[in-house]
Amino acid sequence: MSASPEPVRPSSAPVLPLGENPAAVLEAAVWAMAAIVSTQRQALSEPLMDVLLSDPQRTAVLESVGLVRRDPDGFVVHPSLAQADAATARSAVEAKLSSLRQAVSAAASDGAGTPEVGWGAQADEVLLSQGRASAATGRALAGKIVPRLVGCAERLAAEGSRILDVGTGVGALALALAEGFPRARVEGIDILERALGLGRAELAAADSAVAARVSLRHKDAVDVAEKEAYQLIWLPAPFLSEEALRAALPRLAEALAPGAYLVAGTNPVADDALRRSVGRWTAVRGDGNSFDTARMTEELEALGLGETNTFPTVPGGPVLVAARRPER
Ligand SMILES: C[S@@+](CC[C@H](N)C(=O)[O-])C[C@H]1O[C@@H](n2cnc3c(N)ncnc32)[C@H](O)[C@@H]1O
Repeated sequence: MSASPEPVRPSSAPVLPLGENPAAVLEAAVWAMAAIVSTQRQALSEPLMDVLLSDPQRTAVLESVGLVRRDPDGFVVHPSLAQADAATARSAVEAKLSSLRQAVSAAASDGAGTPEVGWGAQADEVLLSQGRASAATGRALAGKIVPRLVGCAERLAAEGSRILDVGTGVGALALALAEGFPRARVEGIDILERALGLGRAELAAADSAVAARVSLRHKDAVDVAEKEAYQLIWLPAPFLSEEALRAALPRLAEALAPGAYLVAGTNPVADDALRRSVGRWTAVRGDGNSFDTARMTEELEALGLGETNTFPTVPGGPVLVAARRPER
């Protein structure tokens, strides 16, 4: 089996031919997503080749959307189906499952009464699975992004260095940062007390030497008042309401130590209308905002931060924007 570096499907083919009955095709597409997620979940504990052989009908669905192709050696698999390291694979598949659950919840709401929307309306298991999925971002920050930010790794290697994890949720990303920067203290803040409660249980179950350097606090990003305090600030921008994001950004910029970085997760501008409109719908349902990568870059630069750099994650996935507070 091989993971093809090129898409299995020729790029000129339509992504999804909707034909005469678009609703029926899109309903089947939901099942294709289910086939992807269940295949990837099974592949967390078995070789992908065995997983593909174990359920030929499910694998045929993956073939029909160009994610798998049979060849004389077995299967050629699209890179988006074959996962990287085990921890990232688990996080990524949990995030997809969580997205599917949220879509089902959107489908089940009839528009009457208070809609089941927003991060705060999600079940504990969704907060936990989405949160744990975000640990992959913490690992990417520690292993791939920070080493490329001038002076950042050195600052975080100093005893007592401080990281602010805005929207810390269940603390999974905060724990990953504490693991990645063994001398830093990670301060997680969030407006959702229920997530913080889950986070405290996660900290209690984690490596105590790592968890001891993580603190979780009930606090709104708009109330951050520290000045020149942090060597790194992480901001999952799409999850803050537009109002909160606008109010928080100047405070977060001031909370950076001179020469320190703010790294914001942002949604890229999708190149097709379906993903653009779904992105806006899910942002609004999730009490989020419509700032994309370009807009976030502009806002950070308008606040006097510079040396902005963007780091794509997975194709079509979040883009991290890093910006530096000037040295004095
Ligand atoms: C994607 S979740 C974070 C997941 C997190 N990394 C984890 O490990 O669980 C985004 C979080 O931002 C929080 N949030 C939204 N608006 C906020 C604000 N104004 N201030 C602080 N946190 C906020 C939400 O409550 C949510 O827990």
